[in-house]
Amino acid sequence: MMTVTSTDSNRPAVACRRCAHAAAPHTWAIPFMLSLRSPSSERWLTQVDAHLDDILIDHAHCEKKAAGVAMNLLFSYVDHVVLSRAMTEIVNEELEHFRLVLDLLERRGVPFRKLTPSSYGQRLHERIRKDEPARAVDRLLIAGLIEARSCERFSLLADHLTDPELKAFYESLFESEARHHSTYVRLACEFLPEEDVRARLHELAADEAEIIDRGDAFARMHS
Ligand SMILES: [Fe+2]
Ligand SMILES: [Fe+2]
Repeated sequence: MMTVTSTDSNRPAVACRRCAHAAAPHTWAIPFMLSLRSPSSERWLTQVDAHLDDILIDHAHCEKKAAGVAMNLLFSYVDHVVLSRAMTEIVNEELEHFRLVLDLLERRGVPFRKLTPSSYGQRLHERIRKDEPARAVDRLLIAGLIEARSCERFSLLADHLTDPELKAFYESLFESEARHHSTYVRLACEFLPEEDVRARLHELAADEAEIIDRGDAFARMHS
């Protein structure tokens, strides 16, 4: 039986009375918690089952790209000290995640290599408005939505995969990626009023849902 143990009506903590997941939200609740407009489809888990090594390699690339996104934001808005401090923290965490995935690949005997990325990131970045401060808001919200989708998919992997090492690994990453999502949304509110940011987040989340539903023919973390 599921219980919504909410301390904040916008961010419910969901606990299960039948299992030990008191702190971890259940998969069905995650899209709602992270501002996502649609859950991932079964199609993606079919790709995971058929091409697990490619998913793991792409995950390493995603962590590297997440560090790059945060570094680019730091360079663009370096005089914004709140943002710069937050980005410094995220760059460090994402590079640490990158190292952890490289270690995981090495332990499993999967050679790291270049991969053609999915079209997901490019399609989202096409939505970024040109003029400031809307541009800053869009860059931050899109970074936040990518974190949210990664977080949702890590949770799906933790539930779906049977390999204990992989289950534990993806459970361990959930908290930091959810926190990154919140950080990016909070920072967007430094550039425009919160109600404008929430409205834009709703629009971009609809775009994100449409892009992720379309998917890609090859298996990636965001296909
Ligand atoms: Fe990460
Ligand atoms: Fe992240």
